[in-house]
Amino acid sequence: MGQLSAQFLTEATEYGGFKMSQPLIDLVNITKSFDGDIVLDDLCLSVKENEFVTLLGPSGCGKTTTLRIIGGFESPDQGKVIFGGKDITNVPPNKRQLNTVFQKYALFPHMSIAENIAFGLKIKKKSKSYIDDKIRYALKLVNLNGFENRTVDSLSGGQQQRIAIARAIVNEPKVLLLDEPLGALDLKLRQDMQYELIRLKNELGITFIYVTHDQEEALTMSDTIVVMNQGYIQQMGSPEQIYNEPENAFVADFIGESNIVDGIMLHDELVEIAGAKFACVDKGFGCRKPVDVVIRPEDIDLVKPEDGTLQGVVTHLIFKGVHYEMEVTTPDGYEWLVHSTDMFPVGEKVGIHVEPFDIQIMNKPASEDEEAVGIDE
Ligand SMILES: Nc1ncnc2c1ncn2[C@@H]1O[C@H](COP(=O)(O)OP(=O)(O)O)[C@@H](O)[C@H]1O
Ligand SMILES: [Mg+2]
Repeated sequence: MGQLSAQFLTEATEYGGFKMSQPLIDLVNITKSFDGDIVLDDLCLSVKENEFVTLLGPSGCGKTTTLRIIGGFESPDQGKVIFGGKDITNVPPNKRQLNTVFQKYALFPHMSIAENIAFGLKIKKKSKSYIDDKIRYALKLVNLNGFENRTVDSLSGGQQQRIAIARAIVNEPKVLLLDEPLGALDLKLRQDMQYELIRLKNELGITFIYVTHDQEEALTMSDTIVVMNQGYIQQMGSPEQIYNEPENAFVADFIGESNIVDGIMLHDELVEIAGAKFACVDKGFGCRKPVDVVIRPEDIDLVKPEDGTLQGVVTHLIFKGVHYEMEVTTPDGYEWLVHSTDMFPVGEKVGIHVEPFDIQIMNKPASEDEEAVGIDE
């Protein structure tokens, strides 16, 4: 927690300070409807140069629409897109300094790999030697040296996606927009590509705006994660902030598995859960106030019953390889999800212990409606 606060402080100082570079892209009060349904509602988002920003959220929450508005493929009903201080809301896609890689590779099947990569450069009427150099450079970047004359269908899915990225890179965009580019790949390939994208970002120094519904992918790659739901930004922050300090139940639930239990904040730094008093580090929630309490499965220590803050019985056990997954049922009927390298068999009485800084307190949503959209201000 201390480390996190320190990190947050640094960021806050940077934002307020004079050293920080100007935002590269600003979405200002973007609203967009399709057929009368609001898809993006007054969305504001700022992206800095060389930042890896991920838009993360469930299907249909407006990620692709946001990306298409940045790319110029869709125009907002209201609001502005600012790029490097200039209003580009009405500038067509090919005049914007960005390139998009979509989920489907969209390579031209009848062209060789070299011709695919050269496509944009030929339109720009670049010289043959310039284009050849660029092709070689881009293939090296994506680890596909010597693939110039291969045909598209002789490549695996992962290789095709890397070519799609190479094709975008040779245009030297300031920003690369990626819409679930790894969605069609299997797990192992996806992980390899994640590392490759991080390397590319570091080597090229370009800004990445990345769309995914996969929270693990977002946590692995991003400098900043923007969690979206139903057209609203739920929370924006570093992967650590989003994971460790979710601002509402939607974020907590969406980012990894969590125990979200009812609690009563007795006073600062003390919360009651199922009749037991847990020390925590949160303040300012008032006295005897109902709250939501988030505790990650890996942050629960199972101990002897008499050493625990709360007692329960192991009701489920699965071996997961790296750890055991257990379910511990407490007298209030709540089933706690616990991840631990220690195994406790089904039927065993256990104590639940949680370190104060592993307990995250959140305000309960004020109404059902608010819960749906997760406005928490
Ligand atoms: N061109 C369109 N016409 C009508 N509805 C659309 C169009 N594009 C997106 N939508 C709707 O807008 C909502 C958000 O879509 P999208 O931005 O693609 O979400 P995501 O990428 O997060 O899955 C969805 O309900 C989708 O059906
Ligand atoms: Mg989408």
